[in-house]
Amino acid sequence: MADPVTAGERRAGLTELAARARACERCPQLAAARTTVVFGNGDPDADLLLVGEAPGQDEDRQGVPFVGAAGRLLNELLAEIGIRRDEVFVTNVLRCRPPDNRDPLPEEIDHCRGYLLETLALVRPKVVCSLGTFATRLLREDPASIRAVRGRAEIRTIGRSTVRLLPLFHPAAALYQPSSVELLREDLARLPALLELPAPTPAVPPPVTGDGDRPPQAEAPPEPPADAQLGLF
Ligand code: URA
Repeated sequence: MADPVTAGERRAGLTELAARARACERCPQLAAARTTVVFGNGDPDADLLLVGEAPGQDEDRQGVPFVGAAGRLLNELLAEIGIRRDEVFVTNVLRCRPPDNRDPLPEEIDHCRGYLLETLALVRPKVVCSLGTFATRLLREDPASIRAVRGRAEIRTIGRSTVRLLPLFHPAAALYQPSSVELLREDLARLPALLELPAPTPAVPPPVTGDGDRPPQAEAPPEPPADAQLGLF
């Protein structure tokens, strides 16, 4: 199916995707233990999408990502650079809380990956921030440590979406390591300029034959005006 272009289509697509996630039982342990499925929330037309690791206890109870202490820090740091939480879309690698906040298992990440890729294709952000190791490894498809890649924006094609990816420390890690808060703040300061750049386009493969002309690229359809923001899907 073609990716939606109007705000209404994006919203309808996210609502349908969230309903599928809420019925998901692909990870039996997570499905049995969860209170809610934390699909994601924010502006369906956001230019910026944030990807954390997995819901914690507060998020599991409320059904909303990043509402606990890490979320409060994230909101404060975003506010410092003039970004309101309701202007962005926030989701996680996993949509269900791992028991006792253990690390996500590889098969759980694999099961939940499709929801993230579909969310990206529906929201169509220009910039994605991966928060912490799990989101960064998943979105970069590379085991590099977050310390090695944080704060360096790169153009990445993730599923059907081409975005500027900015890996960042996870705010929960920053809560426990004051030195990391400064690094997270420093890296987040790059966001306003990144958001000003035009949306990245997928790399065009070289022409197979001929005179060196690049194959024509489809013109992006005009953006509709953003409707009222939907908080929670
Ligand atoms: N940590 C995360 O990675 N995600 C949340 O939603 C909350 C805390």
